[in-house]
Amino acid sequence: MSISQETPPGSAVHDPFAAARNSLIVALDVPSAADATSLVDRLEGQCGWFKVGLELFTAAGPAVLETILRRGHCVFLDLKFHDIPNTVAGAVRSAAALGVHMMTVHASGGPAMLAAARAALQGIAHPPELLAVTVLTSMDVEQLNATGIPAAPAGQVERLTRMALAAGFRGFVASPQEVAHLRGLTGPQGILVIPGIRPAGAESGDQKRIATPSQALRQGASYLVVGRPITQAPDPAQAAQAILKEMAAALNAP
Ligand code: C5P
Repeated sequence: MSISQETPPGSAVHDPFAAARNSLIVALDVPSAADATSLVDRLEGQCGWFKVGLELFTAAGPAVLETILRRGHCVFLDLKFHDIPNTVAGAVRSAAALGVHMMTVHASGGPAMLAAARAALQGIAHPPELLAVTVLTSMDVEQLNATGIPAAPAGQVERLTRMALAAGFRGFVASPQEVAHLRGLTGPQGILVIPGIRPAGAESGDQKRIATPSQALRQGASYLVVGRPITQAPDPAQAAQAILKEMAAALNAP
């Protein structure tokens, strides 16, 4: 299944629940393949996408992707590459060969790195959607300034987005607080993948720039990435259901 074959959020007017399922990405931030498989089992039928990030991929390697892909799910490989252009290009090629549907590089790697990452996918049949990570959702103005960037997150997100757009990207990762502005910059063809999602009343944890599922969708998110509110809930399937219900209502709203 390729990303273009997915039901775009909002387009399945007749089945907002199906659209919600196709727009929810559950982050499998767990330490082993066994933990990941157990979560995928418990969430069977709830969502079409799973995100494999640094923790799980470092522990379990590419085999864990195969397990998820074999069950017919889409995989977002979120390794956030950030290195010299040649190294990132090689890593992008290696990741594409694993059959994942979305993957990430850090926009802050700069124009040459972004161009090399895009070029690495040329000629590959059904390439994954390459997303540019703007400013991590755990960063607030203090954290950002401490890295030497004298800007607020919103300004830096805009700068990085414009840079990645110029390098040919259409997919972005940003916080819910920037999603409306980002949608204005990318237009309807932008693929906006938004973490930092917290249902009302949920623990924010280390996330700083958060919003509820319906707020993020109403402001233009294409996909929501949800980790701990689902994976650490006493009943992950029930937590996912509640989020899907909220998403379906938002997608169905006029
Ligand atoms: O548990 P939680 O819902 O906070 O998980 C969010 C997920 O999204 C994590 O896997 C994290 O790595 C990822 N992410 C993020 N901020 C970004 C990009 C990815 O939180 N800018």
